[in-house]
Amino acid sequence: MKKDQWILGIETSCDETAVAIIKNGCEITANVVASQIESHKRFGGVVPEIASRHHVEEITIVIEEALKQANLTFPELDAIAVTEGPGLVGALLIGVNAAKALAFAHNKPLVPVHHIAGHIYANRLVTEMKFPLLALVVSGGHTELVYMKAHGHFEVIGETRDDAAGEAYDKVARTLNMPYPGGPHIDRLAQEGSPTINLPRAWLEEGSYDFSFSGLKSAVINTVHNAEQRGEVIMPEDLAASFQASVIEVLVKKTVKAVAEYGVGQVVVAGGVAANKGLRQALEKEFSEKPDVELVIPPLSLCTDNAAMIAAAGSVMFDRGIRADLSLNANPGLDIEIYNH
Ligand code: KG4
Ligand code: ZN
Repeated sequence: MKKDQWILGIETSCDETAVAIIKNGCEITANVVASQIESHKRFGGVVPEIASRHHVEEITIVIEEALKQANLTFPELDAIAVTEGPGLVGALLIGVNAAKALAFAHNKPLVPVHHIAGHIYANRLVTEMKFPLLALVVSGGHTELVYMKAHGHFEVIGETRDDAAGEAYDKVARTLNMPYPGGPHIDRLAQEGSPTINLPRAWLEEGSYDFSFSGLKSAVINTVHNAEQRGEVIMPEDLAASFQASVIEVLVKKTVKAVAEYGVGQVVVAGGVAANKGLRQALEKEFSEKPDVELVIPPLSLCTDNAAMIAAAGSVMFDRGIRADLSLNANPGLDIEIYNH
């Protein structure tokens, strides 16, 4: 009988200190997330220095908690996987150094993981990934369409040229005086309103799978300011619904077009904005009419940053022989295609 594989994953790229242990690449045995949102809220966004300080305080506690949850000890682990990048350099460094210390002290292989590869592999914790597939990545820092012909092989066919979808959500929320992170608030408000305000859709050049959300964000801000100057009242729920309708229409149409062009049988959705109710409903409606394409959207807790996704991606990287040595450094601008071959 094949021995079980246990991978411990560490994620500290932004404002969650997270550690998880995954069995055989797809079963969550422990999943601990210490969120710092409360500390960053009053600043209206993530403050890098505060994030690093929290990671330092939390990391050892979170590692111990994950081992306790899994009822495992270090010698039983097969490898330590860690987010190498992209993300905030000071935040990433805490996770990378913790992972290096564990790998060194317990003589375990060290596996570097790309944060977005992790988001995509959250889907492996839900169902089997079937290739070729298309991943729609919508997070706070990234909006990408990624084609995967096989495990561990990523081809970015489109990406944002300016703001990421989550970033646009957070900035629009700020304009409407909502707390950070604004995505969930806009999402909730949008369910109560109607998309009655005309806002632009950035389709870009014919055939491009790239995205652009900064024009839309500016259009929302201008709409609010113009109304204020004229003394008109805009219903925030209608503005939220109109903004959300624009984001969703572009995301869904480009995804559907890429699915047809690349002939994939599975679409996986990844990143914090995949928690968006409107986006989930729109994708579900679209793909319910296409029975030959399977749509997979992880549960909310696996959409936002966590380490279970890093361990799941780490398992694939480990099986492919990808290793880092103790010279591993945080890489805030890491390219997802770097480990393709
Ligand atoms: O993937 P993630 O946890 O962190 C990054 O890797 O960036 O994504 C965080 C982003 C934030 O911008 C947050 O506002 C957004 O995901 N988000 C949402 C929703 N839940 C989280 N955006 C829209 N609707 C939501 N329900
Ligand atoms: Zn993320």
